[in-house]
Amino acid sequence: MKNIVILISGGGSNMAAIVKTAERERWQDKLGARVAAVLSNKADAKGLLFAREQGIATEVLDHKRYDSREAFDAALMAVIDAYQPALVVLAGFMRILTPGFVSHYEGRLLNIHPSLLPAFPGLHTHQRAIEAGCKFAGATVHQVTAELDHGPILAQAVVPVLPDDDEHTLAARVLTQEHLIYPRAVAELLQKQ
Ligand code: GAR
Repeated sequence: MKNIVILISGGGSNMAAIVKTAERERWQDKLGARVAAVLSNKADAKGLLFAREQGIATEVLDHKRYDSREAFDAALMAVIDAYQPALVVLAGFMRILTPGFVSHYEGRLLNIHPSLLPAFPGLHTHQRAIEAGCKFAGATVHQVTAELDHGPILAQAVVPVLPDDDEHTLAARVLTQEHLIYPRAVAELLQKQ
């Protein structure tokens, strides 16, 4: 069985989209894959409730309890590796990862970012896209490399930026597309494994 481990920090709607797609498309039978665990650096991440309701193992590692980024990432790797993951999926996991973490999962570490990379890496992507006068925005699924919000692009979705948009309306429009492209990109990678 190919284990997928998903890392979240908040709402976890992308994680939920992957879990629901895995169920609907019967990834267990068709791809020999399952979401084995959902991990969060925040105990109050809403997505943990959904994962628990689905009977998925959850774990919380509070980054504030660690003296350094390296110490946190080492602890996180130990928890993740217990699941022997085929894929580690970052889904709104709002932590900068150490090079050691990234190289440990090279080729099996994915992220979704709410912009059309390489435009707008980092935070406040929607506000920045509106301020730049972009007519289109979107989301990108990419393999993770040491550089923040870079790495080979696996999928993108484009949405229009409408004249009355604020960062919230644009974020909501982008998020609906994220929920489509992320499960698809994960399934495609699993098929190749
Ligand atoms: C998503 O829009 C995701 O693209 C973004 O956080 C949101 C998480 O939502 N990720 C980043 O900004 C990472 N740089 P979710 O918790 O509901 O999936």
